[in-house]
Amino acid sequence: MEFVRIRQIKDIKLFKQSIYDGKVFILRNNIQIIDLNNYVLKKFKSFFKIDVDDFINNDRAKEINEVSLVSFQKNIKESKVLLKKFAVFLEHLKFNIDEILSDKITFRYSPKNNSKAKGLLKPAKAHRDTWASNIFHQINWWIPLQNVKENNSIYLIPKYFNKKVENTSKEWSFEKYKTSKNYPSTPFSNFKFKKSDTKSIDLEFGDVLIFSGNHIHGSLLSNTKRLNLETRTISNQDEYKFKIPKNIDSYTKVKKKNWFSNLKKEIY
Ligand SMILES: [Fe+2]
Repeated sequence: MEFVRIRQIKDIKLFKQSIYDGKVFILRNNIQIIDLNNYVLKKFKSFFKIDVDDFINNDRAKEINEVSLVSFQKNIKESKVLLKKFAVFLEHLKFNIDEILSDKITFRYSPKNNSKAKGLLKPAKAHRDTWASNIFHQINWWIPLQNVKENNSIYLIPKYFNKKVENTSKEWSFEKYKTSKNYPSTPFSNFKFKKSDTKSIDLEFGDVLIFSGNHIHGSLLSNTKRLNLETRTISNQDEYKFKIPKNIDSYTKVKKKNWFSNLKKEIY
């Protein structure tokens, strides 16, 4: 299985089924995503008083501090404008937004290799989102805010989409994550995956990586800083309308539907 690059979605049913079967798509050069990205970058510039290109590429550019990063990240999470732009994007793709539940859109700052992680989202070890959410028709949307090389994006391990992997979902608790410092944001696996099974890809500003929440994935860090957006959605009826991934290795008991909210209600 490889990544499939597309410019548009021709058949939304086929597209969704392919996602639930484990296919990974890169929607290329999307005009709604470019608009959404530019909105976030403009906010970034006015919030931190730093030019984004400078921040990423110039080693002498000033660093952003933890407190202001967290406050910016909260700001993005609460942005109705951004959510509305995301809804417009989904509508263009022919998703039925009446039945879409969406997680909050999050802004992630990944530092260079060996630098201290900052902000709300720390680099993630190999995991399936389904180990935490227990929702098997979840779709992940990963949006770079700059051109990223394959060593500075995220990795997926498609070979294990339908293969059991030992993981910490038995002991992990969302409540503990919320209340304790340095507790992982998601269950993860300590399994030593083969390098050749780990796949990643170059992405450009305007591209979106779209994949099932059942895929094993994690963060890559390189010698370049990275900014990206990410979110997850569920189409409420899809668990009945499509053949969705089966639970093979998650011990999470509760379906975390309350992480998601009705997109239409949120924006109108
Ligand atoms: Fe994830």
